[in-house]
Amino acid sequence: MCGIVGYVGKKSTAEILLNGLSKLEYRGYDSAGIALNLPSGMKVFKANGKLHNLKNVMTENIAAGSGIGHIRWATHGGASEVNAHPHSCNCGSLVLVHNGIIENFQELKDELTGCGCVFKSQTDTEVIAHLVAREFEKVKDLKTAVINSIKCLKGAFALCVMHNDVQDTIVVAKRNAPLVLGVGNGENYIASDIPAIIEYTKSAIYLDDNQIGVVSADEIKIYDASGNLLTSKVENLPFEPQALSKMGYKHYMLKEIHEQSDVIRNILAASPELQLKKFDRIQIIACGTSLHAALVGKYVIEDLAGIPVDVEASSEFIYRSTIINENTLVIGISQSGETADTITAIKQVKEKGAKVLIVTNRPDSTMARLADNLFPIEAGIEVSVAATKSYMAQLIAMYLLGILLAKDAEKAAVIKAELSQLPAKVEMILNNSTAIAEIARKYSNFKNFIFIARGINYPSALEGALKLKEISYINATGYSAGELKHGPIAMLDESMPVLAFLSEGIVYDKVLSNCQEAKARQAKLIAVTNVENSTHQGLFDDIIQIPHVSDMLSPTLNAVVLQLLAYYIAEFLGKDVDQPRNLAKSVTVE
Ligand code: AGP
Repeated sequence: MCGIVGYVGKKSTAEILLNGLSKLEYRGYDSAGIALNLPSGMKVFKANGKLHNLKNVMTENIAAGSGIGHIRWATHGGASEVNAHPHSCNCGSLVLVHNGIIENFQELKDELTGCGCVFKSQTDTEVIAHLVAREFEKVKDLKTAVINSIKCLKGAFALCVMHNDVQDTIVVAKRNAPLVLGVGNGENYIASDIPAIIEYTKSAIYLDDNQIGVVSADEIKIYDASGNLLTSKVENLPFEPQALSKMGYKHYMLKEIHEQSDVIRNILAASPELQLKKFDRIQIIACGTSLHAALVGKYVIEDLAGIPVDVEASSEFIYRSTIINENTLVIGISQSGETADTITAIKQVKEKGAKVLIVTNRPDSTMARLADNLFPIEAGIEVSVAATKSYMAQLIAMYLLGILLAKDAEKAAVIKAELSQLPAKVEMILNNSTAIAEIARKYSNFKNFIFIARGINYPSALEGALKLKEISYINATGYSAGELKHGPIAMLDESMPVLAFLSEGIVYDKVLSNCQEAKARQAKLIAVTNVENSTHQGLFDDIIQIPHVSDMLSPTLNAVVLQLLAYYIAEFLGKDVDQPRNLAKSVTVE
């Protein structure tokens, strides 16, 4: 949700900012903007829409010792040039970029308007620019002005502030939104996330909540909310710059789908030693695709370990009375480790004494820092907004956790052995992707889609629908196959494709019967199945045959198929696969 970049140093500031923003486009792409602090005044460039629009307006090569940039995911005020960051005070000598939401912005705006501040945008961010500028007028020190101003802010923010009277310096601050400071030699960097700076430096300081940083070319000083100087810890950044290349694939999503066999190998090789405290039940909280991995986790852990597991969307969990205590193990699952809803939920359960295990792809994230136990899923950086390889890694993490907690060592050993066979089976599906692409082409013009499954693949139906919706904008819904007859069946006719995950196991016959019911209503039927049964031929319009796995592991192979189908349908429709409209990869607002 919004990306921030800052640079102080002797290189081409504009180039570094534009390059950094291009690596953060997954965080939002409603508008982009840059401010350069020149002795002659602030130079601000903004453009609505994607980053290339900003590049088109930045034709001059302007030398500047410092600059800040922003890529926006709109919250307050629509996507427009006037709402694009950086925002400035009345006279334009102070500029800032912001990620987060200021909850008391209206109250502040009313007060500032009364004092003569003129608002140009509909954003919540602009109040911070006026607020800091007013403080600066009083105290004539940018750091103190920021410290005083953030005391008035309610909500979440990561901020970069520049003032024209203070050359070659950026003041930063954060609360409940990520910000990392890249440490260079005679230059320093600021970013919402590592991809923006990894090609320049591998050392960084992570700012904690309510800390303020003063960044110049030669030093970074960190202060607490009272202005006391703190000792900062410089850490090594975990990623390699080449992880951010498409490696010849047309889209990051396709590359990331193809990386999944290696992702499984990596997580199996790394499987962490977890020292979990005693607990009698598990609560898993997550959002979106991570929530679907959590639902698979419920089936796996309850089956292998016999421990009750509840799963809930973080955004629902945080606004009700939940029964959590020191005997509950809370598992937060998140690719990014920065999802605001999940972070809030984790903070709440920690207050109630629960121990928290975080399953994440980002061991450097806010969630990882809140964890009592950490399970890194080793998927490597995921760029495409649609989660694919991280989902696979989360599924494997659920199996490994189930094995760790298992009551029946023999049963656990069977699953463990089967896991080691998975990468080869994933590769078999990937090698058959042309056949899946053909089926995708056939169905790409349908306006609606239903995914059905039962048991441990019910989450596969939900994930199939989510993936299709988010990148192709086709109206897709995932149902438990048994629920179809309780209402949704009314929608079935020849214009409604129904895709069934039909895996060998306890619910196979039941799902097959549900498919018969759909066929009787003339629905177009597609099977994704690991069962060879001659009745399939007459029943289904199309069959995607996949390698055999046990019922428990079947969500993994079904995931590869649903991802490829969604990818090829979106690709045939000419959609922006890696950056679907209205979405952002890291959802840092509640
Ligand atoms: C997945 O394709 C989505 N883009 C989205 O649902 C995502 O899974 C969700 O926002 C949760 O993100 P997280 O895993 O980073 O917490």
